[in-house]
Amino acid sequence: MQIKIEKKSILDIDADVIIVNLFEGVKIPGGVTGIVDKAYNNIISNFVIEKENFEGKYLDIYKLALPNENKKILIAGLGKSEDFSLVKIRNLTAKIIKTLMSCGNNKKVVSILHGAGIAGLCPEGCAQMITEGAISGAYSFDKYKTKKQENKIEEFIIAEIDDEKFEKAKNGVETGIIVANSVNMARDLINESSQYLYPETLAKFAVENSGVKTTVYNKDQIKNMGMNAFLAVGQGSVHEPKLIHMEYKCENPKKKIAIVGKGITFDAGGLDLKPPSSMLTMRDDMSGAAAVISTMKAISELKPDIEVHAIVAACENMPSGSAYKPGDVIIAKTGRSIEIDNTDAEGRVTLADALAYAEELGVDEIIDIATLTGACMVALGTVASGIMGNNEEMISSFIKTASKAGEKYWQLPMDEEYAESLKSDIADTKNTGGRMGGASAAGVFLSKFISKTPWIHLDIAGTAFMEKPNQEGVKGGVGVGVRSLVKYIKTLEK
Ligand code: BES
Ligand code: MN
Ligand code: ZN
Repeated sequence: MQIKIEKKSILDIDADVIIVNLFEGVKIPGGVTGIVDKAYNNIISNFVIEKENFEGKYLDIYKLALPNENKKILIAGLGKSEDFSLVKIRNLTAKIIKTLMSCGNNKKVVSILHGAGIAGLCPEGCAQMITEGAISGAYSFDKYKTKKQENKIEEFIIAEIDDEKFEKAKNGVETGIIVANSVNMARDLINESSQYLYPETLAKFAVENSGVKTTVYNKDQIKNMGMNAFLAVGQGSVHEPKLIHMEYKCENPKKKIAIVGKGITFDAGGLDLKPPSSMLTMRDDMSGAAAVISTMKAISELKPDIEVHAIVAACENMPSGSAYKPGDVIIAKTGRSIEIDNTDAEGRVTLADALAYAEELGVDEIIDIATLTGACMVALGTVASGIMGNNEEMISSFIKTASKAGEKYWQLPMDEEYAESLKSDIADTKNTGGRMGGASAAGVFLSKFISKTPWIHLDIAGTAFMEKPNQEGVKGGVGVGVRSLVKYIKTLEK
């Protein structure tokens, strides 16, 4: 699908579908919807609203085939004007696209710039959200289906006649395309079978698609760097671990940051094997890696004045004769010893070394993103991701930025008391304690592998993969984190 914006009246663009909108309770539409209504003999007010009782409830969609014309009008409900927001525009557009793709011949569609009229939202943000919604809504993972998605929309045009709004919206479309394609890239990586996506192929993907300089280290090189914790997790698999380091550099960066993604390409649990129902979706255990690789792609195109490093310690957590075992003691890169209490708490063990590697780069800030704990999923469900860290300012700034990008993060405590359960008789720490407060205990565990750099940890166990469609209509891999990371990095410029 091609997304464009044209400085024209919506009526002057020839399309199969004209998309307009309606706030809840409005009887006589104003703005561009009003113009379309009048151009077609008040068919929206007299027929759709008056006769068909279309109320404009949020996400309600009315499709109207125009008599004697090979054309449709789609009226999208915006809901109550006081509840309206940028994120709602994205979810609504995704739904519109899915509706249009599920029926008939809608190759060329033209849309009103939702939100920038009567609602008075910033045209740039509105255009970005429409663009993101359109590209997100059209996404499907059908590479293994013989019957591919039909009814593709070829052209999606936003019509905006006002000079000033047009110029702003144009930037929004550009950013939207970059961000949405990155999100879809992350989704593709997450949805891919682990049979094809293992450390080597993930690394190859990063080299070919991250858009930035990418170095891949093999097992011997990882060993030489002292990353024994990372290697221990991967030692039960036939696939060799890979350390992936992507870097975006620029002249006189305002800041240097490292983003670290958990990259377990499949989490069977190791010798502490997961039960079948928990193992089923564990190809998603590299969602953090998918997020940082895809973020780099967006960064390579947006070119911020920030130096960005992305690190993925990629391996597979499998049971086998060579697998690491409960009771093993491993000396991590920082010299800290870890007693393995449970081989299924592998993410934090790999991150211990990946975070230490990131800190050695001498960056100003570190963010890790990981499908880390079932406990976080129990606490926050599939709606919000968990956030913790050693720097309150960074935490609140990230939460705020993320919410503007339409992602929810909820802070969980990271008090020292949570480390109590991690005390080991034979090593500096165990990798797990009890079941209670599991997300926080994991956070405290990670914090011990960072000495001083401001750091936040994002636990996306509940938000990375949807068993049933979310608000945006996304099923399977979500690509959570990309939108927030990109926006957060952009705000560091200021
Ligand atoms: N990858 C899982 C966490 C997870 C659970 C992600 C559900 C997505 C959905 C992680 O490696 C794990 O297995 N964690 C264990 C830790 C436990 C053994 C302390 C868990 O949460 O059960
Ligand atoms: Mn696990
Ligand atoms: Zn895991």
